[in-house]
Amino acid sequence: MNVADLIMERRSIRKCTTRPVEQELVVELLRNALRLQPSLENGSWRAVYAGTPEASKELTDYIYVQMTESKLGKLIPGKLMDVFKKRFSDIPAHLVVMAAKGPDRPSSDRNYAAICGLMQSFQLLGWERGLGMLWDTDPFLYHEGFFQGIGLREDETFVGILHLGYYDKVPKSRRRTPAERKWTVLQGSVT
Ligand SMILES: Cc1cc2nc3c(=O)[nH]c(=O)nc-3n(C[C@H](O)[C@H](O)[C@H](O)COP(=O)(O)O)c2cc1C
Repeated sequence: MNVADLIMERRSIRKCTTRPVEQELVVELLRNALRLQPSLENGSWRAVYAGTPEASKELTDYIYVQMTESKLGKLIPGKLMDVFKKRFSDIPAHLVVMAAKGPDRPSSDRNYAAICGLMQSFQLLGWERGLGMLWDTDPFLYHEGFFQGIGLREDETFVGILHLGYYDKVPKSRRRTPAERKWTVLQGSVT
């Protein structure tokens, strides 16, 4: 598949099958995606991988620990909480991505942007191999319980979780805003 078709055809996968995801494939895709981001040196990013049902459950516990212990969480019936948790723990694999903070804002931003590039290339390369993903940055992930669980350090920023799984059905594309509606063409000053 050529790159333009790959970009057009890739969809976020919110419903995946129970087929396990091979860790070797994930490593291979990451290695290949890194080739487009030569600025990402050792120490500028790292990922935590959960690729077994047990690991998926452990990650789910980190995600829900705060909610379970909060006043709001205590109002949620146990069975409903189990449904929420199952939604996560049933996903075959998760890649939690973290960015190192730089000495100043521009270098942190540059690194964060390069890591987002890495993640998008990883999604595209995965799609080429039939592996679906959902990039998750839901606000409810941003809490101390989760950060502690994944071992996020003071000098790191959480970038997102890529939920990975094979799919039976490709969802429909959402409407896109044409690029030309998002730019301004400078005309130059008239003298
Ligand atoms: C940086 C980033 C963060 C995202 N965070 C979420 C999220 O928190 N929850 C979600 O359902 N989808 C999330 N997505 C997926 C987008 O919503 C998805 O790309 C969009 O619905 C378009 O669908 P498509 O990927 O199938 O084209 C995120 C995507 C990106 C690039």
